[in-house]
Amino acid sequence: MIHRRTDYLPPAFIVEQVMLDVHVAAQTRVTARLSMRRAPDVAASPGLRLDARALTVQSVALDDQVLDPREWSLSETELCISRVPDTFTLTTVTLLAPEANTALEGFYQSGPMFCTQCEAHGFSRITPYLDRPDVLSKFTVRLQADARRFPVLLANGNCIDKGPLGDGQHFAVWEDPFAKPCYLFAMVAGDLARVADSYRAADGRDIALEFYVDHGNEDRVDHAMASLKDAMRWDEERFGLVYDLDVYMVVAARAFNMGAMENKGLNIFNAAYVLATPETATDESYHAISAVIAHEYFHNYTGNRVTCRDWFQLSLKEGLTVFRDQRFSEDHLGGAVQRIEQVRMLRAAQFPEDAGPTAHPVRPDAYQEVNNFYTATIYEKGAEIVRMLHTVIGPDAFAKGLRRYLAEQDGKAATIEDFVDALSAAASTDLTPFLAWYAQAGTPQLRLTRAWDATTRKLLLRFTQHTPPTPGQPDKQALPIPIRLRLRTQRGQVVPLPPHADALGDELILMRGEALTLELDADDPLLPSVLLGFSAPVKLLADYSLAELQGIAAFESDPFVRWDTLQTLHARAHAGLMDGDRSALHALLAALQRVAAEPVDMPMLTAHLLSLPGIAWLWDQYREVHPQRFLDAYAQLGRAIAEALCGPLSVWAPNAPITADHAGERALSNVALGYLARLGSDSVQRMADERVVGPNMSLSIGALRALTHHSDAAVPAAAMQRFAARWHEDALVMDRWFALAAGGPQVDAAALAALIDHPQFDWRNPNRVRAVLGSFASGALQGFHTEAGYRAYADGIAKLDTLNPQTAARLLKPLLGFKRLAEPWAATQRQVVTELRARVQSTDARELLDAALT
Ligand code: TRP
Ligand code: ZN
Repeated sequence: MIHRRTDYLPPAFIVEQVMLDVHVAAQTRVTARLSMRRAPDVAASPGLRLDARALTVQSVALDDQVLDPREWSLSETELCISRVPDTFTLTTVTLLAPEANTALEGFYQSGPMFCTQCEAHGFSRITPYLDRPDVLSKFTVRLQADARRFPVLLANGNCIDKGPLGDGQHFAVWEDPFAKPCYLFAMVAGDLARVADSYRAADGRDIALEFYVDHGNEDRVDHAMASLKDAMRWDEERFGLVYDLDVYMVVAARAFNMGAMENKGLNIFNAAYVLATPETATDESYHAISAVIAHEYFHNYTGNRVTCRDWFQLSLKEGLTVFRDQRFSEDHLGGAVQRIEQVRMLRAAQFPEDAGPTAHPVRPDAYQEVNNFYTATIYEKGAEIVRMLHTVIGPDAFAKGLRRYLAEQDGKAATIEDFVDALSAAASTDLTPFLAWYAQAGTPQLRLTRAWDATTRKLLLRFTQHTPPTPGQPDKQALPIPIRLRLRTQRGQVVPLPPHADALGDELILMRGEALTLELDADDPLLPSVLLGFSAPVKLLADYSLAELQGIAAFESDPFVRWDTLQTLHARAHAGLMDGDRSALHALLAALQRVAAEPVDMPMLTAHLLSLPGIAWLWDQYREVHPQRFLDAYAQLGRAIAEALCGPLSVWAPNAPITADHAGERALSNVALGYLARLGSDSVQRMADERVVGPNMSLSIGALRALTHHSDAAVPAAAMQRFAARWHEDALVMDRWFALAAGGPQVDAAALAALIDHPQFDWRNPNRVRAVLGSFASGALQGFHTEAGYRAYADGIAKLDTLNPQTAARLLKPLLGFKRLAEPWAATQRQVVTELRARVQSTDARELLDAALT
């Protein structure tokens, strides 16, 4: 069934109040009492239809009168009651089997607990309901369970009563004072350890902060707790947003489909985004934890207090909340490096999506399975749109506009127009042209051409834009593009921009149409640095010579543009190597040597500047990829850099302090070790070997990754064994081990099959499945891009689809790129995908496979 954005109709019923009485056990019984009334002004029909997904409904009562089974009917998707009055109480009793729920939506088992996941449509897998985000209601939940197996009983809001009952049972009653859509509902019953702290809010209230984790993990919560307090403080200081309940709870789950979920007052997290110590988690994990903690916390306003009218508006909460967590990370970790990491991720995940078969607008027009739309486009491109709005109106007007939006829409289900209108009003600027960014899929290409006339001393800069067609959108319109730029003389001096009608500041111009021309007097040709700070999510196609790219990499002070220029040089060097032309490689090496010769003020930035570009981005630079030639050139590129920078790399590699504030040094050491390992020296191998089992996980993972480049396969194998011997009882660390084991450059289909047969592999744990399947497809490219590789991967997806369609569909995407592969890979992958289409059952997988096959 296809859902269309333009088919939106307001709900026919209002739910005033929800009372849930849940008896938690292997067979859980949910009694729901819904106080309902017909919505005014909606065409009345006599009956009531509630969403009910694969439910076992035992009984239905209207105003406490049990209905005859002939008065209601139940399908796989709906509960229909033939006739209801205008105001009534509906009581349903539903039976659930959490231990048999492998999809991890609704009520399911995760290790020592049962927990819920309701976004987007999990609530109707718990009880019949109007499962849509624009139905807001107040919830009271009574949980009852065996006190020994389930000592902890949690739901949203405040605990208003609890105590023991006979027969070893106990109960707890939770009341959430804020009306909410059912996708924000959560409950947890389990045997968990509690780590508690408190936070003094700006209004003087003390908020209880409680983390619930597996017993034994209590000492791994410090960083998440500190991040939560930082996030709470930040939202108060930046936007005046103060937390609105008396308790904020976070539960860490072993089995979780995504990163985390912002349920009101009761976040449920993938344990990988909560638990960390320096011995068990990398510096990247530390950053990811603070970003996800902040993200879910920020949803309390952008998402929960103001929610989405329908799922087409998903980016209203996700794009905005990603932008907010990005700004938080910039303030806490440094804007320069954060921006590079944000763009790296956008280009690795979102640009390829926008150029592939599943490309969709940030506000989609249609979907079959909404779970397929929790994408890099909705999240990361959505955040880039919000960032452009912020750039255009400035931080003060943005803060004013955000507060206005939250005040106007408080307690409501809003649309993207509501948000853009509030910003426009606060800034006294018409931002509606930016709505086209939400409607149009595909990454715009921004082309820059220059002409300098040596006799008239006039310089002409001309920008033009073009967005290639995407599925279902053959014709594209011009979009407003904020371009931050800076002109320099050949010696690096900054020259002011000429006046322009659409200038928004000294270095900022808003491109409003197909083309934009700047003309100025210039005694030399000048060198423009464009998209400072990546001011718009576009692909820049500029007519720079290799020497000019070297010049920008040397002189530009904007860290993003410097890094980006080096990326461009990498791409040109890589393309040259595929054609046997080394001129771009030489320009790249010279630019990198210059970076390496500078004093290292910010080691994390130096690490980024010197890193090889990610494969996903480089792959996306080509309309068609010949995997073998691509990977050979990539390996050559890595070796050439290692040789050229051997001197400084050998200085940085040994510098690996283990104290918390030296993440930058560790990153640089790991980058250096990774290059040097390609040269196969014994001293490097010894250094790496020493780190494999040590006091710091960043260094251990960096060392293992470096060793996988060793020419003798026995070397990484021995190191991997030592690592596993040390960590085999730690699930999150073993996820890292599985990821390295499955994603190494030498891994083939047989090695993948062996990992799936490993006793610690578990189809029911998405982290483990992602570590193995996901890493194989993104890291073991040599092995993946063979017929056996595609088949082994597709077999894994087919199996996972029977258990967990949501995660299967996410992992399916690496198989969908065949239109951009050279032959014979294209035909082989298409064949495997065609066969897979005939095997999968879920709407999730089918929607994506159909998009790729048409
Ligand atoms: N709303 C969540 C977030 O962005 C993500 C999410 C959506 C999710 N669907 C989910 C998480 C299903 C877990 C399972 O923070
Ligand atoms: Zn989110």
